[in-house]
Amino acid sequence: MSHITTILEENRTFPPPAGVRGNIASLDEYHALCARFQTEPEATWRELAEAQLRWDQPFTRVLNRERAPFFRWFEDGRLNLSVNCLDRHVEDGLGERTAIIWEGEAGEVRHISYSQLLADVCRAANALKRLGIEAGDRVIIYMPMIPEAAVAMLACSRIGAIHSVVFGAFSPQALRDRIEDTGARLVITADGGARRGGIHALKPNVDTALQQGCQTVEHVLTVRHADNPIDTDPARDIDWHTALAAESDKCEPLMVESEHPLFILYTSGSTGKPKGILHTTAGYLLWAKLTMQWSFDFQPARDIFWCTADVGWITGHTYSVYGPLACGGTTVMYEGVPTYPDAGRLWKICADHRITLFYTAPTAIRALIKAGDQWPNRHDLSSLRLLGTVGEPINPEAWIWYHTVIGKERCPIVDTWWQTETGGHMIAPLPFATPTKPGSATLPLPGIDAAVVDEHGDEVTEGGGLLVLRQPFPSMLRGIWGDDQRYIDTYWHKFDGKYYFAGDGARRDADGYFWIMGRVDDVLNVSGHRLGTMEIESALVSHPAVAEAAVVGRPDEIKGEAICAFVVLKQDADAQLADTLRQHVSQEIGAIAKPDDIRFADSLPKTRSGKIMRRLLRDIAAGREITSDTSTLEDQQVVAQLQQNRA
Ligand code: WT7
Repeated sequence: MSHITTILEENRTFPPPAGVRGNIASLDEYHALCARFQTEPEATWRELAEAQLRWDQPFTRVLNRERAPFFRWFEDGRLNLSVNCLDRHVEDGLGERTAIIWEGEAGEVRHISYSQLLADVCRAANALKRLGIEAGDRVIIYMPMIPEAAVAMLACSRIGAIHSVVFGAFSPQALRDRIEDTGARLVITADGGARRGGIHALKPNVDTALQQGCQTVEHVLTVRHADNPIDTDPARDIDWHTALAAESDKCEPLMVESEHPLFILYTSGSTGKPKGILHTTAGYLLWAKLTMQWSFDFQPARDIFWCTADVGWITGHTYSVYGPLACGGTTVMYEGVPTYPDAGRLWKICADHRITLFYTAPTAIRALIKAGDQWPNRHDLSSLRLLGTVGEPINPEAWIWYHTVIGKERCPIVDTWWQTETGGHMIAPLPFATPTKPGSATLPLPGIDAAVVDEHGDEVTEGGGLLVLRQPFPSMLRGIWGDDQRYIDTYWHKFDGKYYFAGDGARRDADGYFWIMGRVDDVLNVSGHRLGTMEIESALVSHPAVAEAAVVGRPDEIKGEAICAFVVLKQDADAQLADTLRQHVSQEIGAIAKPDDIRFADSLPKTRSGKIMRRLLRDIAAGREITSDTSTLEDQQVVAQLQQNRA
């Protein structure tokens, strides 16, 4: 479990800003909606799904529990996601409204209207069809934060293809794993992306990934974006611009069943390779849209919404692309790093585009606090009316800074707890109804039955325990791609199929507020990114010099958690070995998985039964006093050695 050290005692409760009428206007309204969900859940979901989505064929059945925990929502309805995000708004006369504002790192800006986006999506969908892509086929998207990434996602949905976006900073090896697991027929990429004034290569990584294996990939479609020279295999590679230019800007959408797979997104677990989280069409879209309206109070005619997440993560899927577009509003995409050319970049973007709703991660907030208040103070932040946070617990210092220095005490702070698996927010305040407490995600959204339970599954109404979701909800994952058993084992096994187990520890206070304590499994949260300790350990032992490795997290002021690796070598360490191993992990997974600390030892502390003593390693990593009982250790010397050898 991660413990962010905090020096600030903060027990205040912040009332919602007065005089603003939100989409959910009061706590009474919130409680009434929650009560409706409790007494007549299916009728309530039915009403919302009918009102919010455009159906080609209306559904009759709300929820099918027959194959629980494989739930099916709105299953006999048919619809198309891209129609819900594009065509319907154009038909409603909003064709000229800006759908996407894109800003590149060098400062170039593009405004893309709904009509234009629809035309681009149709061209791209036609191009995919010409390449033989059919409904149910998997398409890998490995792109920078550019509008074409959204176009590619929406084009897949238009023809029923299943996309799997791979974060652009993942290595060729990680890309290859995902291509092979999905069995993708097509990869959509770009020559490269902008990063810190330089270029970050993408297409060359695809080439490397495809050199070994990946037999299923027939074509690679490449967007020219960064002037990065690339190799082209004429039998396989196609230029995005040429392909789209040859197509019509009209494409008949394929109406799919509600449960038609929409995307697979990989996320780390406590064991084995990352798992492909599967989301389907109607339920996911419904919740993306509702949470935009509820947690962000999104009002599409007046708001400019900016979620800083990359489309490579679930946050980017739901809140950079699908949520805002489903609502017919304007979403902002920024390609570069938050501190380029200086620490004022995010605030400058907020000022330049008159952003009203801003959503980012605590790690970014903490890094920007360090840079100093002069950066935000240089920019006009008066357009902001709401500030969101996601990805990890937000420490009170960061919350208060966000609230005062960025929000000028006018903007509600919306701390949203959710996961790749839940598709959208689960626990979050309603910004103009729920009083907030720094560090608490407050209360479950209407329709979400979250609870804290003890090891036996008994509810803890006040106190600490494990976070569970007790009822199915439309946007929940439908499984792990190709591994039904792992889905059951990971999420349902712990409480005998009764509850969804999120993997987080949480505490409830006397007001029923939820305080998320962090992961209780071997999953790290580094800068809001989820990483499995086992994945990093496998990467380390795949290096010829390494005999054994154990990875744990330790508290870090900026990243939340830093990665600490304990390594047993087959040979003596030379001076460069720690760096070589860091580099190796970066190549195997991606730079985000690079260990911060590497500690060498002759062996790892284990119990008599041979289990690595992780709690002990966490204490050593954090430089804390050892609390574990080491009397059973095979070799007590190891501990002293590990405490000293920090590389
Ligand atoms: C894990 C999910 C879902 C968006 C980004 C991360 C942690 C997420 C919060 C929050 C405390 C949070 C949890 C969760 N987490 N949001 N507001 N407060 N912890 O998605 O990669 O699927 O990770 O992130 O530990 O289980 P993800």
